[in-house]
Amino acid sequence: MSDVVAVLSARLTAAAVEAFGLSADPELRAATKPEFGHFQSSVALRLAKQLGQAPRQIAEQLVAQAEVGDLCTLEVAGAGFVNLTLLPSTLAAGVNLPTRLPGNGKTVVVDYSQPNVAKQMHVGHLRSTVIGDALCNVLQYAGYAVVRQNHVGDWGTQFGMMVEQLLAEGTPAGELDLEEMQQLYQRSRRHFDSDPAFVGLSRRRVVLLQSGDPETRGIWQQLVDISLAEFDRVYAFLGSPLTQADVVGESAYNADLPSIVDDLDAAGLLTVSDGAQCAFLDGFTGRDGSPLPVIVRKSDGGFGYSATDLAAVRHRVRDLHADRIVYVVDHRQTLHFQQIFALARAANWLPETTKAEHVAFGTVLGPDGKPFKTRDGGTVYLVSLLDAAVARATTLLADREGIDRAAVARAVGIGAVKYADLSSDRTNDYVFDLDRMVAMTGNTGPYLQYAHARLTRLLTKAGTTDDKVTVLHDPAEQRLALLLAGFDDAVLQVAETLQPHRLCTYLYDVATALSAFYESCPVLTSEGETRSSRLALCAATRAVLHDGLTLLGMTAPDAM
Ligand code: ARG
Repeated sequence: MSDVVAVLSARLTAAAVEAFGLSADPELRAATKPEFGHFQSSVALRLAKQLGQAPRQIAEQLVAQAEVGDLCTLEVAGAGFVNLTLLPSTLAAGVNLPTRLPGNGKTVVVDYSQPNVAKQMHVGHLRSTVIGDALCNVLQYAGYAVVRQNHVGDWGTQFGMMVEQLLAEGTPAGELDLEEMQQLYQRSRRHFDSDPAFVGLSRRRVVLLQSGDPETRGIWQQLVDISLAEFDRVYAFLGSPLTQADVVGESAYNADLPSIVDDLDAAGLLTVSDGAQCAFLDGFTGRDGSPLPVIVRKSDGGFGYSATDLAAVRHRVRDLHADRIVYVVDHRQTLHFQQIFALARAANWLPETTKAEHVAFGTVLGPDGKPFKTRDGGTVYLVSLLDAAVARATTLLADREGIDRAAVARAVGIGAVKYADLSSDRTNDYVFDLDRMVAMTGNTGPYLQYAHARLTRLLTKAGTTDDKVTVLHDPAEQRLALLLAGFDDAVLQVAETLQPHRLCTYLYDVATALSAFYESCPVLTSEGETRSSRLALCAATRAVLHDGLTLLGMTAPDAM
């Protein structure tokens, strides 16, 4: 639809030049009510002062001058608005000619999912993975070359403790699963807190790990390998395309860290504070007004989370040629990323031409409205949530015949969780409520999946056609056609704003317009050109729902 809007804007601009000798952008906006047509311009109101004429009079002259009759009709309304109503043929063309967005020649790096080695993935990782997958799909559709970077937490002092604990116990690392690794971490923590000798040994072990001691690295690598294999299983269950090929963990930047400090030092950006090497940047102060540092190197000589993120920015710009870097991380890290971006810009690792964006998201809440925990106060694992969702969907589908019930239950259960996560503004918290998520009515995943499956059934019944939309008499048909023609615009808007809920809202609008269409426009029982045109409209709707759900990372079953 954006190309039609561009043509209409150009012609209205030309009309203004012709009529008044001045060029003014008509600034076409989607009409706020159906009776105002499809688009509106308030250019006459803006020109009124300049020209010293009544707005309505200007609007009349503009309408008389404009040559748009092949695409739309014009009408002057209210105080001097120009309403544009697209001709059915224009709407039909917008539905019949789906555009393929060309590449934009830009690279976007998306840092998301980011689970931690030796720990189960939890609901926070669910959000990052689901939002990150959707954004990668959308950015790719919008023409970007997308580079996924799974910044796995596989580095830090806790690994010194864990390796030392394994050696002390004589436990073979290769036999542990994730749950056992988590227990190992707890044991090493207790050991560390109670035994000063173990503290010294753990510290020495961290140094051995960072300097590449083969025995230490070997044990650490086993912990990493087992964890990554487990993450792969979770991604496969979730339907995420992430694999180990996308993992560039914190450890990957170990060798770069000394040069990060050297470069910052050479640029005069470091100050020693309490023995730690820190960067103090303008504009970052604590609540009491005291300056907030970025700690680049700790007083014990170790590098931390920030140093690694700085090295990652440098790598993404210098080696991956990122034009845009997107971090899908919960909102508690907002300050961290503001500081990293500012420091990376000051150090010239992040040029002005590369956009860096923190895609922050809120917390998943339990039924009590507090951060989601298990009944005994523990962390809720992502896998247990997905299991529960698929179980719920299985119950819902129990009496359905003639479908692959297991596959559909997976698509519906997981789709329901994903859609619930994506459909509200990501910065909001939301309550994890399975009943609401799997509901077949309202703005839910299963509702959209069902609309798609119903269309598939209708089209199968009608037999395959390669019909085109030719007649659009009914307002409900026109409304649906207008929405369908806006698919690319909706996706581009998400690529721009990084707000997936806008795509959800768009798809829900399509499904709602589809219901209204079913109500006033018989399809299979209609005849001739009306029938073939309506079938074509149904096929186009099905394609939009299918493609939209796929972009959101959901499966659209053909029957459910
Ligand atoms: N692993 C961290 C966590 O689970 C998130 C890492 C976010 N990404 C980054 N580049 N810092 O909390």
